[in-house]
Amino acid sequence: MTQTTETELPHWPPVNPARSPFALIDDAERQPLAERAVTRVQLPTGATAWLVTRHTEVRQLLRHPGFSSDLLRPGFPLLRPLPPDVTSNSQGAFIRMDGAAHLRLRRMLTAEFMIKNVQRIEPLIHQTVADALADLAAAGSPADLVSTFALPLPSKVICHLLGVPYADHDFFQSRSRLLLDRRAPAEQFQHAAQELREYLRSLIDAKRARPDDADDLLSRLIRERVEPGELDVDELGGMALLLLIAGHETTANMLGLSVLLLTRHREQWAILRDRPDLAPGLVDELLRYLSIVRNGLFRLATEDVEIGGRLIRAGEGAIALLSLANRDPGVFDDPDEFDPYRQAHQHLAFGFGVHQCIGQPLARAELRMALVELARRFPDLRVAADPQELSTRDTSIVFGLDALPVTW
Ligand code: HEM
Repeated sequence: MTQTTETELPHWPPVNPARSPFALIDDAERQPLAERAVTRVQLPTGATAWLVTRHTEVRQLLRHPGFSSDLLRPGFPLLRPLPPDVTSNSQGAFIRMDGAAHLRLRRMLTAEFMIKNVQRIEPLIHQTVADALADLAAAGSPADLVSTFALPLPSKVICHLLGVPYADHDFFQSRSRLLLDRRAPAEQFQHAAQELREYLRSLIDAKRARPDDADDLLSRLIRERVEPGELDVDELGGMALLLLIAGHETTANMLGLSVLLLTRHREQWAILRDRPDLAPGLVDELLRYLSIVRNGLFRLATEDVEIGGRLIRAGEGAIALLSLANRDPGVFDDPDEFDPYRQAHQHLAFGFGVHQCIGQPLARAELRMALVELARRFPDLRVAADPQELSTRDTSIVFGLDALPVTW
């Protein structure tokens, strides 16, 4: 990042990738941002926005009704220009909707992802973890943990829940990766979004044409919401797309980075094996420390709002930087230290406010079960590369590793 002067603002996202996958931002670029709660930054589109970096102010921003998530509003802070016919591609994707329209769709899913429902599907997650471990063992040492374990596991679980055939995973994984890459050319982005929409639309049409009592989420939403006329099929397609993308890239990236971090210190890997009761707390500390949504959450002010002593005016963009809020020294002691015994539950890795991640009970259960079983089955698991040499997803909305070579 260039230095702050009267005319030149810090760039966001940072210009230089952090040297270690565990450093959120290059130290020199982090310094000026950490000094203030709110900093004006320049985006790749040339527009400016307010970057909010502290825990209290990030929560304030994310729960304030005067900020919109709707990227179609004029002036919304963007990392890349909008593709021309984005309107038709965003229907049903309630992560980008506000107020009653957002709540209407979110409420159709809330019960599905509640803790007690996730507990009900724990046997399915367990079995999927066991299968993924068997695949890893069969691949033989050395193997790539990302493609043989970290990605297939959450992908199979979300496919099963939604009723999407996992056999099509190469198709939807490559397209969703492209949609998350902020440097993807507009035409490719557009094309990938359209292909995924069409794929899900024909899946929904096929389910409607053969009504049965299938117990997957899409079939249930068709029976209970679409057929009675409460939900449009295009909206259902958008919801399915959101869940499919959010449901696997995030957890997969967390798994890869978590294994990289934990296997560097054998005692931390052993904690998982010997003290699985500590795993839920450990997972929260991993979420805090790794903070994979590293570009932050983007909003547009729809009224004048004061945050951290700064007046953010209606029409200006604001970015809630979860990653630095999760390393706020006012909330977490020695925030740059990974401490498996820390009580980290105040972290903001799942966001905050009305859009807070709906899938968090599922993500937590997947991470806990996958890491405990991996440490039990492979107590000698080691990463066969220097962390600095690993290829990282620096231009993705969700940070992660492209591959993680492991031996045992
Ligand atoms: C470790 C894994 C995960 C992380 C770190 C994560 C992170 C987040 C964050 C930060 C948000 C807030 C977005 C915003 O306010 O603009 C969010 C929303 C969301 N997440 Fe997750 N997520 C994870 C896993 C999942 C899973 C497994 C699912 C699938 C069920 C999921 C589905 C969603 C949905 C549907 C929303 C939108 C909620 C709304 O707008 O009301 N996420 N997630």
